[in-house]
Amino acid sequence: MNLEQVFKNNESWIQHKLQVDPSYFDKMGKGQTPELLYIGCSDSRVTAEELMGATPGEVFVHRNIANMVISIDLNVMSVVNYAVDHLKVKHVIVCGHYGCGGVKAAMQSQDLGLLNPWLRNIRDVYRIHKTELNAIPDETERYDRLVELNVQEQCVNLIKTAAVQRGIKERGLEVHGWVFDIKTGKLKSLNINFEEILANIMEIYHLY
Ligand code: CO
Repeated sequence: MNLEQVFKNNESWIQHKLQVDPSYFDKMGKGQTPELLYIGCSDSRVTAEELMGATPGEVFVHRNIANMVISIDLNVMSVVNYAVDHLKVKHVIVCGHYGCGGVKAAMQSQDLGLLNPWLRNIRDVYRIHKTELNAIPDETERYDRLVELNVQEQCVNLIKTAAVQRGIKERGLEVHGWVFDIKTGKLKSLNINFEEILANIMEIYHLY
């Protein structure tokens, strides 16, 4: 992508927005009240706003390799805290995608340096779900399922945080797990049953 083109695109975007609504940027300058927090993969093919048809101001976004929610990652934890405690979003979404390079890299026997500790979290997801995953003979299907289970575990990681627990209890905040299919463009909800997954164990994660 040509960087000069980027600035030209920006100019035409401004003109287009002002044609539709002359006060567009005045309104945007006044602040944001997004109702969604989207945590997705950094993959260039998996956008946040575009695939949802969302406009500026509607979605608070965090993206990292393989859409991870890691408790000691100050970056994702700051985003979650700010979005949930201050912006008071109504929904927190973890969106994974089939064909995720991060998930695939996590399963290779290769030293990836700085990425090792990051991707190790995905190996742990595999370990938790090894019985189900090892029973899938087709490699692509097994990866697809690992992508889904990784989303599920990252949602569970969200539920382990004080901010999300407070949001759920005090104002009905909802956590959702989604997967984007790169080959079809289809977005699907995994309809994760957190009560079933966390039955008889959630107590140990209660923070207050
Ligand atoms: Co990815």
